[in-house]
Amino acid sequence: MKVIARIALIPCLAAACMGMAQTGVTAPATVYVKAGHLFDATSDTLRDNVVVVVTGERIVKVAASGEVAIPAGATVVDLSKAWVLPGLIDCHTHLQARADKYDPINEVKQTPFDGGFNGVVNARTTLMAGFTGVRDVGSEPFFAVDLRKAIDSGYIVGPRVVASGPGISITGGHGDMNGFAPAVSNMMYPAEKDYAIADGPDEVRRVVRKQIKYGVDVIKILATGGVLSAGDKPGAEQFTYEELKVAADEAHRAGRKIAAHAHGTEGIKDAVRAGIDSIEHGSLIDAEGIALMKEHGTYLVADIYNDDYILGKAIEFGLPKENVDKEKMVGRLQRENFAKAVAAGVKIAFGTDAGVYPHGDNAKQFYYMVKFGMTPAGAIRAATQSAADLIDRAADEGTVEAGKFADMIAVSANPLENVTVLEHVGFVMKGGKVYKDELGAAKP
Ligand code: ARG
Repeated sequence: MKVIARIALIPCLAAACMGMAQTGVTAPATVYVKAGHLFDATSDTLRDNVVVVVTGERIVKVAASGEVAIPAGATVVDLSKAWVLPGLIDCHTHLQARADKYDPINEVKQTPFDGGFNGVVNARTTLMAGFTGVRDVGSEPFFAVDLRKAIDSGYIVGPRVVASGPGISITGGHGDMNGFAPAVSNMMYPAEKDYAIADGPDEVRRVVRKQIKYGVDVIKILATGGVLSAGDKPGAEQFTYEELKVAADEAHRAGRKIAAHAHGTEGIKDAVRAGIDSIEHGSLIDAEGIALMKEHGTYLVADIYNDDYILGKAIEFGLPKENVDKEKMVGRLQRENFAKAVAAGVKIAFGTDAGVYPHGDNAKQFYYMVKFGMTPAGAIRAATQSAADLIDRAADEGTVEAGKFADMIAVSANPLENVTVLEHVGFVMKGGKVYKDELGAAKP
C-alpha cells in the first residue's frame, strides 16, 4: 500500500513543481524560531533552547536546538533570550463594544457601522496584546461572523474569531432592552429581532437554527439575568431547563458548542444539566453547581477582572445605580466562588468580557486568576490549551506542537514566576506571520 502511494505521489509532486515554476508561485517559506524558553502548554513546565520550525502557517517540528540543523541562509526568528508561548485565546470578548463609551442603548442610537468601526480597531488591539484567538460571544446582529470572514480573508488584522450571534434572551431578559413604554419598545425592537429573543422551547429551537443559518460558530444563551442590563436580576433564572436543553441539543446537532451567560445559582445548574459547554461568569455558583460542572466536564469562563474596572469607572461613565448595585452584589462573590471551583478541579477556560473593559487589557485577568487559586502555568493553560479545547479549535490552536497553526507570542521575563509579564507581550506571530516584534527577533 505504502509503495503504491509513493509511486502515485511522485509524478503528482513533479507536476506541482512545474506548475509553480511556470506561474511564479513559490513553496511556503520555512522559518526557524529559536526559543530560549518554551512553554508549549502541553504541560506545566518550560523547555529550554528549543527550535520551532514553521512552514507556511503551520508548525512542522518542535525540537531541542541540538536536534535541528538550521541551513545556512535560513530565516531565523531569534527569541533565544525570551519566553515563548502559544498565542493566547480569550473565550469571552465583545469586539464590537468600546469600554470607554458605555451606553446600554447604543443599539438604538447608532447604526451597526459604529460597531463595525470599533471591531476593526479592537481586533488589531487584541492581536497586538498577544491574543491570537478569541471567542466573541454576543454581538449585534451578526457582526462577529462578518469580522471572522474579514480577518480570515486577510483584509483586516485581528485574532482568529469563533463567532456567536447575539446572546439568545427571553423577552425582558438580559439581552432585551427594558425600561421603555410598550410603544417605544415596539418601535425600537421590531419583529426582526426574532433571531435573538425566544420564549418557549419551540422558539428557542427556531432561534438557534436561525443563528446557525446566519453563520455562527457557537451559540450564546442568556440563562440568567445580568449586571449591565436594566430590569433583570443576575441571580434570577431566565430560561427554563427545558428551553436550555432544547438550545443545547439543537446547537450540538448542528455541530456547534453552546455557552451560557449565567450568574445565578439555579440557572448555572440547569445550564450544566442541559449539557451546555461553558458557564460564563458563574458568579453565584454553589457547591452543588461545582460538583455538577465537574461531573459534566463543563468549562467555567469567569471574567474576574471585570469588577474592578466596572466599579472604578462607574461614576465617570454615569453607570445607573441599578447596575452599580448589581455589580456590587456579584463581583466579590464571583471571585470567591471562582477560587472554590478552581480548588475543586472544575475545568477553567480564560475569558474576560473584554469590551466591558478595554480591549488589549485582556491579560490583566491572569493576575486575578493566580490570586484566586490558579498556578501561573494553570492560568496560562486556561488561555491556551483549555481555551482551544472549549472553542473546538484544539487541532489548530492552543499549544506549540507540530501540526498546529504557528500562533506564538513571546515575553522577556518568565511568566511562570510572574504572570503579569503577559500584560506586555513583545512578539506576536499568527499563522507564521509576524505582527509585532518589539523584541527585535525577526530582524535580518
Ligand atoms: N456582561 C456581564 C453582565 O452584564 C458583566 C458582568 C460583569 N461583572 C462581573 N463581576 N463579572 O452581566
